[in-house]
Amino acid sequence: MAPTANLFVSAGRTTTQVNPTQFGHILEDISHSVEGGLCANVVRNGTMKEDDSTPPAHWSLVTSGGSTGAISTDTASPLNAANRSSLRLDIGMNGAGQRVGAANSGFGGIGVRPNTSHSVAFWTRATPGFTGTLTVTLESDTGTVLAAADAGNPTTSWRKITRTLTTGASVPSSNANRFVIAANAHGNGQSVWFTVVQCTIKGTNGIREDLARLLADTGPGFFRIPGGNYLEGNTLPTRFAWKNTVGPVENRPGHQNDAWGYWSTDQFGLLDYLQLAEHAGAEPLLAVFAGYTLNGTAVAQRALEPYIKEALDEIEYAIGGTDTTWGAQRAAHGHPAPFPVRYVEIGNEDIFDQSGSYDRYRFPAFYDRIKARYPHLRIVATAPVTSRPADVLDEHFYDADHAQFALLADRYAPVDRNGPQILIGEYGVLDTSPVNPTGTLGGALAEAAFLTGTVRNADLVIGAAYAPALASLGMRNWPANMIGFDPASSYCSPSYYVLKLFGESAGDHVVPSSLNGADDSVRHVATRTADGTVFITVVNPTPASVPAHIVVTGTAGVAATAKATTLTGAPAARNTIDAPRTVVPLTDIITAGPTFDHTFPASSLVVLQLSTTGPAVPALPGSRTVSLRATTPGFTGHSLRHQSWLGFISPVTASSSNLDKRDATFRVVEGLADDAAYSFESLNYPGHYLRHSLFRVRLDPWLDTSLFAADATFHAVDGNNGEGISLRSHNYSDRFLRHYGGEVWIASMGGPNPYDNPANWPADTTWRLTSPWWRSEVDIASGYHSLRATTSGFTGHSLRHQSWLGFISPVTASSSDLDRKDATFNVVTGLADGSCYSFESRNYPGYYLRHSQFRVRLDKWVDSSLFAADATFCALRGNYGPGVSFRSYNYPTRFLRHYAGEIWIASKGGPNPYDNPAIWPADTTWQVIDPWAP
Ligand code: AHR
Repeated sequence: MAPTANLFVSAGRTTTQVNPTQFGHILEDISHSVEGGLCANVVRNGTMKEDDSTPPAHWSLVTSGGSTGAISTDTASPLNAANRSSLRLDIGMNGAGQRVGAANSGFGGIGVRPNTSHSVAFWTRATPGFTGTLTVTLESDTGTVLAAADAGNPTTSWRKITRTLTTGASVPSSNANRFVIAANAHGNGQSVWFTVVQCTIKGTNGIREDLARLLADTGPGFFRIPGGNYLEGNTLPTRFAWKNTVGPVENRPGHQNDAWGYWSTDQFGLLDYLQLAEHAGAEPLLAVFAGYTLNGTAVAQRALEPYIKEALDEIEYAIGGTDTTWGAQRAAHGHPAPFPVRYVEIGNEDIFDQSGSYDRYRFPAFYDRIKARYPHLRIVATAPVTSRPADVLDEHFYDADHAQFALLADRYAPVDRNGPQILIGEYGVLDTSPVNPTGTLGGALAEAAFLTGTVRNADLVIGAAYAPALASLGMRNWPANMIGFDPASSYCSPSYYVLKLFGESAGDHVVPSSLNGADDSVRHVATRTADGTVFITVVNPTPASVPAHIVVTGTAGVAATAKATTLTGAPAARNTIDAPRTVVPLTDIITAGPTFDHTFPASSLVVLQLSTTGPAVPALPGSRTVSLRATTPGFTGHSLRHQSWLGFISPVTASSSNLDKRDATFRVVEGLADDAAYSFESLNYPGHYLRHSLFRVRLDPWLDTSLFAADATFHAVDGNNGEGISLRSHNYSDRFLRHYGGEVWIASMGGPNPYDNPANWPADTTWRLTSPWWRSEVDIASGYHSLRATTSGFTGHSLRHQSWLGFISPVTASSSDLDRKDATFNVVTGLADGSCYSFESRNYPGYYLRHSQFRVRLDKWVDSSLFAADATFCALRGNYGPGVSFRSYNYPTRFLRHYAGEIWIASKGGPNPYDNPAIWPADTTWQVIDPWAP
């Protein structure tokens, strides 16, 4: 098929690093993903506390050959304060060849597989007259014994009994089974009590092995644990109270998981969540309860302290040394080594707390106390905050509309890099199948489209996790899930394979790529590893295949063959427990090279894996303005700036002075001494560049000498600290731009000068390239101006207001006085930000252009921060070349656009007609001209 599309990959340059956490999982107990899922104890309600019913739920009496007996729930003579309930077995007649016992039906059955061992443990006591022994069995629902063991003699006081049950090689895998504890042929008239009954499949630390393996197989970088509504609970007593989930199982009271409507024994506790992450080679992203529950209760500020303490203790349990109180507890529980936690999340979806308590006092209180004790931890907020500088903001996306979901791919490119980084703590296309708990290929491709955008913006987006990860068939709480399971088996959805393919082909850096000649809905991203493996990931959700010509540049060589992995099928296709391989990825070897053709099938995700040779270096965003943020812990709020012609770092924030913001903003230009490197021109003093002189970095006006050029040229390399970038001096190849004592130098790692101090050198020489503190790239003189459209056919039209709404219409020197005045605006300093602009009507002073529900209108100034933000626009270089594009201050993906004669703030692609990507670049580009009405 002749190529119709061209895909260019520039493999020798990298735009950003891919984070080790780029893909991960969230785990919460929803749809029995933990209780009856990951928790490998197959007995349901082993503590007899699931409800107040008698006999206890999920237990039934077992008799045989005419024996008699009864079972009931008993709270007399409890095991301990945490577990007060037990199952009482009253034995009536129980003669030779008979038995009386209690059977547990598990979680919709008990999964049995051949050659599988189970650890049985339970607490028991009996009346003094009971002298017999007990037996434990795994058996089919019809009584065929699949594994059996004698279980010893109960005494009159509580005693723990442990045994192993092992199935034979010929036992078939099945779900229709039960677990039975019985007295055989003895005990007439006596009673036996049982509680904290467990029958745990042996394997991975009490974690169900097939589910743990599926999660680990995606190569996750992080586990968000324990996340979601489960963390919060409906009420304070039903939150995830982590201290009740560690230590001896018999001491755990369990709790009603009222977020999802079932009992949790908490036998799978905090340590198990942490070990699950460890088992998968992922870092735990630890969530702490933050004083808000799903019923809308926000703990009052004065009552918050115990919850802060609970969170600090939780963190200590995860990362504290064994010389700390909770670190020692962790060691006593079998895990002396601390877990590698770097991120701690404060709460879950606090966006739903309408009281405003999160930003007002809850987030700051947790933030301050955690940072004070653990300055290196990065704090994740679950709602936008202004009270403290959150390191990361967790955003969640669910949508049943595939096309709409796929558009999220565009969400992050325009987002301000001076705000928090982003975690996609939960994402998933919702599916409405009444019977199947997992979604379709079509939904998964929309998710894949979104993921291309998260990888492309990996400098901002630290990771993404599909949610929910697991659902038990027939017990689900959520419409679409990643993995479905029953007691004996499990299967993966197309969404799982999408996440796995992305995880396997993430590379360690993103490389520039572009695609033309294909439908806008075809998405792609390219990454590479340090050793030259290049991954080209293409998502084609359309019903037509896309034959493409692929050109790989910037390498010394590209191997003649490549690996192509394809996930494709009918958009409505899905996997099920009975047909788990309907949609699975398939791998081929294809012909490749520096240029080659490949056809991307309809409805597909394809990953091409190429072998290339030659190094790659970071590519900075040429001729755009940026700021450079320090990465050294304790200085991450500091940016590089010039002051009195010298380089410093100092704190810069959104509320810094205009001067500070401008001094901390630089235009990245081609290196003055080497066009493969970079120079940094001051925004405030055009023609002045950062350069070093006697190793001190300063700002000097351009001097036409080769020495100046060399002193002002820096090579971008991967950050010495493993993140961001470092800038190596052009003429001192062992020296890098470094902050030291607040000053900026070019420093070597070790040397005679104080600023060459090797301590902290890697972090001090590593920078994060962020959005410019000064948000506008183009300066517009204040005073009257008009804005002329640049779209072909409309260049005689100017922006104007009419009947309080924004339009474009033809305006000329001979237009009426009213028309000319309505098309003239006083350009003033932005009402919300001094680095942007607002447009005051010439005709109605005190009235400003602002947007409301994306429509641009003229409104009288109201003293509110919302009005100010809605009326503020930042001036960027034209999206369509010469001219100016005005970016909305509070919707940074949206620009002032004319569409069908009306003015909107529009994104390039989106649900609304005015977001139409066709002609978007021209429609959002304006000529700032002399005023029609001076
Ligand atoms: O993933 C299911 C639920 O969706 C989570 O518990 C909650 O955080 C979100 O609303």
